Amino acid sequence: MEYSIEEIVDEILRCRNCTLYISKKNYVPGEGNENAQIMFIGEAPGREEDEQGKPFVGNAGKLLTSMIESVLGLSRKDVYITNILKCRPPNNRDPMEKEIDACFPYLVRQIEAIDPDVVVCLGRHSARVIFEHFQIPFRSITRDRGVLREKDVDGKKMRFMATYHPAAALYKPPLKEVIEEDFRKLTAVIKRKNRTLFDFFS
Ligand code: URA
Repeated sequence: MEYSIEEIVDEILRCRNCTLYISKKNYVPGEGNENAQIMFIGEAPGREEDEQGKPFVGNAGKLLTSMIESVLGLSRKDVYITNILKCRPPNNRDPMEKEIDACFPYLVRQIEAIDPDVVVCLGRHSARVIFEHFQIPFRSITRDRGVLREKDVDGKKMRFMATYHPAAALYKPPLKEVIEEDFRKLTAVIKRKNRTLFDFFS
């Protein structure tokens, strides 16, 4: 059964599938366009996200937003942004496997509901978990980033790409260019779709 984004968010806002709901301030279900062509998936909310209940609004989020605008020519409202975990792990520690397992069904439903042209995994945790679920080989973010992968999922073609987490570019500024280079490959997917729509209406 396919759920609407509203139904999924309602469920997340009542979630007690793991213990992170106890320490969090706000659930961070995700936000953006329900018909987005591109869906970005990070790791887990940080301090700022936990305060605001919104994904990627801290420093890493500001960098992500600026790259969405400058490289893709889109705004945050055009894309959908969420995380593997919907609650902040205390002190931003890495997500535990049991927390990922507890939260992952929400993400699968979000992907089904949005049905984007491309799922972009931000960082190694996101890439590992998503690639594993969709049975796409994954060795490391360094080796596997920047490649558009097509996968047949239940008879439907889905596309995935992994890139570095924007937070990594805050610590190592040269990575910003690498992420931008990866994002540029996404513009081809967006343009292809727009051209099809244009051809259809002209
Ligand atoms: N890092 C993430 O992975 N997600 C956020 O929402 C913010 C920072």
